[in-house]
Order: sequence, then structure tokens, then C-alpha cells
Amino acid sequence: MTNQDIRKCTCVVTGVAGFVGSHLAERLLSMGCLVVGIDDFSSGHEKNLAGFCDHPAFRFHEACITRPRLLHRVLPDRTTPRVLFHLAAIVSVPYSLEHPEETFRINHAGTLSLLDQAVSLGFQRVVFAGSAAEYGDDERLPLREEYSGDETRQLSPYGRSKYLASKAVAGCNGVTTGVALRCFNIYGPRQDPNSPYSGVISRFVEKAVAGKPLTVFGDGGQTRDFAYVDDVVQAYLAASGLSGTVGRSPGGIFNVGSGTRTPIRELASMVLRLMGMKENVVYGPERPGDIRHSVASTAAIKKATGWEAAVPLEQGLRITLEWMHGERAAISAQKKDAPP
Ligand SMILES: NC(=O)c1ccc[n+]([C@@H]2O[C@H](COP(=O)([O-])OP(=O)(O)OC[C@H]3O[C@@H](n4cnc5c(N)ncnc54)[C@H](O)[C@@H]3O)[C@@H](O)[C@H]2O)c1
Repeated sequence: MTNQDIRKCTCVVTGVAGFVGSHLAERLLSMGCLVVGIDDFSSGHEKNLAGFCDHPAFRFHEACITRPRLLHRVLPDRTTPRVLFHLAAIVSVPYSLEHPEETFRINHAGTLSLLDQAVSLGFQRVVFAGSAAEYGDDERLPLREEYSGDETRQLSPYGRSKYLASKAVAGCNGVTTGVALRCFNIYGPRQDPNSPYSGVISRFVEKAVAGKPLTVFGDGGQTRDFAYVDDVVQAYLAASGLSGTVGRSPGGIFNVGSGTRTPIRELASMVLRLMGMKENVVYGPERPGDIRHSVASTAAIKKATGWEAAVPLEQGLRITLEWMHGERAAISAQKKDAPP
């Protein structure tokens, strides 16, 4: 695809005020796309839009993705829609356990409805945010796409709803091609550390920058696959066919991860070392339902699109730590300026 073609593209990004969606929108705008963003701010933040909300090629709609005919309403007249990046979801596993019906309504039924609308509007691609939670507690590592099927017992309504939605998206292969990206643990600037359900890196980084001890649940020997957000954005672009580096990438389901297992104990040490701090870790009880090991096989996406993670964990952590320093400085400046 030429730069000229990319400049003409209209892309819709749901979940645009979230951690990953905001990075993706920023990147699409920098490539010259027209970006229509949708979010209901249920877990996203207005400040995530700050860097691009005034961009002339950005339109924002505050709405729930389950609103009938949403895509028909938000698309500007006379544009040919090209890609729907569907990232909006109930993202919390514990919340999904407490609210299974709402989770299926948003994450599964909401996706089916958007998929129907995208097909009827002639979108070329739908790229969906699937999840490693679709694998349940499968011990065959690295996890390959075909290991998750109808018989898999996901550990939460979050995992199950993502599985059903990914399957529906991947089954879409007419005028509209569907791609579901099963993302593993994503990290980077703008990931909210303040939610009780936030990713381990954002929690570690926030505590380390505040000089507080890092809490590791269990013995810390559990492993995870961490992917830096810029790499994940690149995977979305590759899956959409917009990256410019590949031709028409196929539809289907693809893992997105680094392909590397990092023990949580080692992650804590790395964060503290990068901060120039001594060991400052407290160990809490193992969390029920936590899986022991998780790592992606990334062979399929590499073969299909050429994509592979490029940012080493240490480099991604440095950038995330720097960002967190900036956040804390901004918060304390605001407090100083506030009237007594
Ligand atoms: N962050 C990760 O490690 C990770 C890993 C695997 C999959 N994912 C998936 O990637 C996607 C983005 O995750 P994130 O980390 O950026 O989460 P996030 O919570 O920062 O972003 C999700 C966004 O969707 C919005 N949203 C939620 N429900 C909505 C609704 N009904 N209507 C409109 N907007 C709604 C939220 O307000 C938020 O801005 C999610 O689908 C998530 O399940 C994330």
C-alpha cells in the first residue's frame, strides 16, 4: 500500500481513550489517516486523548459500542471506511466474574453488532483486540492459536467472551476480512496503574517511582509474556494491511506477544535496578485463579505479516519509568498550584 493510499484511509478506533487505543490512534494520525474514535470513558481517560484531540483528521464520539447503528452514525459523509479497530471492552477479569451478563453483552454481543455494521458499510478490515485469556489455563507452551477452541475452559467471562468474539471476527472473510489479535501482557506509557486490576508492570513502575515496595503475589516464579505498546500498535497495523511493509495480510486469529517468558520476580528486580534502587519487594499470598505460566507462540503472525516484537523489555521499561516520573511531577505541580 502506498503512502498516498494510506492518506485516504478512514479508520474507526473503539476504545480510543484507553491505553492501547490512544497509542494506535496517534500512530494512524501520524500516517495521514482520518481517525474516528469512539469511547464511553468507562475505563479510559480524557487525558489519553490530549496529544491528538485537536488534530484536524480526528473525530471523537462519546458513546457505548452497543448503541444501535453506531458506525452508520459516526462515519463522516462521503468517506469510504477502511478499517475498524475494535478495542473497546470490559477489560477487567474480576469485574467480568462479578458481572458476567454485562461482559457478554459488551464484549461478545457488542462485537457481533459492530461486525455486522462494518460488513454492511463495506469496511475492508475489522481488527479485533482478543486476549491471551482465551487460552484458559493451558499448560502447553508456547501457546499456539489452535490450542483455544470451543472446548477450552476459559477462567472468566472475560476470557470466554473474548474467545467467542475473536472466533466471530476471524470467521468474517467476504468483502470484509476479520483479524483477531490475541494480545498477551501489554505495557507502556498511559497504562493506568490505579485500577486494582491493572497490569503488573504499571503497578511495579508506579510503586518504584514512588519509592514504595513492589508486591509480588506467590513466590514470583510465575512467568508472563510482555509486549511493549509500540510493538502492539505495529501488530495492529500489520493486521490491518496499513503498515506499508506487507501486502494483503490474511484474516484469522494471531497471537501478539514477545515470545519470551519473564518470571515476575525477575521483572521486579529489573524495575528496581533501572531505578537504581536496592531490592524492595514484599511477597503476598498467591492469588486464586492466577495461571502459572504464559507465553505466546508468535510464529503464525510472523509468517503471515512479517511482524515480530522489536522492543526489548529493558528498553520498554526505561521508557515507561520515564513516563511515570513525568506523571508524578505533573500531579505534584497541580497540587502546588491548587488553591488551599
Ligand atoms: N492491556 C493489555 O495487557 C491487554 C492484553 C490483552 C488484550 N487486551 C485488550 O486490548 C483492548 C484495549 O485494552 P487496554 O489495555 O487499552 O484497556 P483500556 O481499559 O485502557 O481501554 C479500553 C477502552 O475501551 C473503552 N470502553 C470500554 N467499554 C466500552 C463501551 N461499552 N463503549 C465504548 N467504549 C468502551 C474504555 O473506556 C477504555 O477507554 C481491550 O479490548 C483489552 O481486552 C489488553
